[in-house]
Amino acid sequence: MNVRRARSADLGGVAAIEASQAAAAGWSLRQFEAELEVESSVFLVAEEAGRLLGFAVARRHPPRLELLDIAVSSTRRGVGRALLEGLRAQAAGCARLTLEVSERNASALAFYRACGFRVVGRRPKFYNDGAGAVLMDLFR
Ligand SMILES: CC(C)(COP(=O)(O)OP(=O)(O)OC[C@H]1O[C@@H](n2cnc3c(N)ncnc32)[C@H](O)[C@@H]1OP(=O)(O)O)[C@@H](O)C(=O)NCCC(=O)NCCS
Repeated sequence: MNVRRARSADLGGVAAIEASQAAAAGWSLRQFEAELEVESSVFLVAEEAGRLLGFAVARRHPPRLELLDIAVSSTRRGVGRALLEGLRAQAAGCARLTLEVSERNASALAFYRACGFRVVGRRPKFYNDGAGAVLMDLFR
């Protein structure tokens, strides 16, 4: 598996993975296109034999790298972990990775905990469906 920076040719596949994962952030193709132009963005894809396996989007706000969205086409195959490792490798100047996740997204909460994130706060009734947000941090 190879983790690299996203390019415009990847975005159809990225949007398809996003649409297939209801728990992801729900970005549109247009949002992913715009993200490629954002200076502070770290937008990575994982691929194998030319097939897109997942993506992660983060933004650098030193000393913080904020994870905005991550999704994989097929779960529990190590793709999410590889993407997070890729983000960490590109996070020079950022001592901390931060994110927020729905308290109802048990898979993502388990994934982030397994990758070393810890809960640092909560925002009650944060999302449109009434779920609270869990704020998590990882120190590099
Ligand atoms: C969250 C997500 C990106 C994780 O990616 P993944 O490729 O499935 O994760 P990995 O295979 O790298 O998992 C690494 C470890 O995390 C833990 N983990 C991952 N998913 C888990 C689950 N559903 N239940 C319990 N533990 C889990 C495990 O410890 C796992 O290691 P193991 O499989 O060797 O036991 C993926 O589930 C996904 O795309 N979810 C839908 C979108 C989403 O919710 N995004 C996050 C919010 S924006």
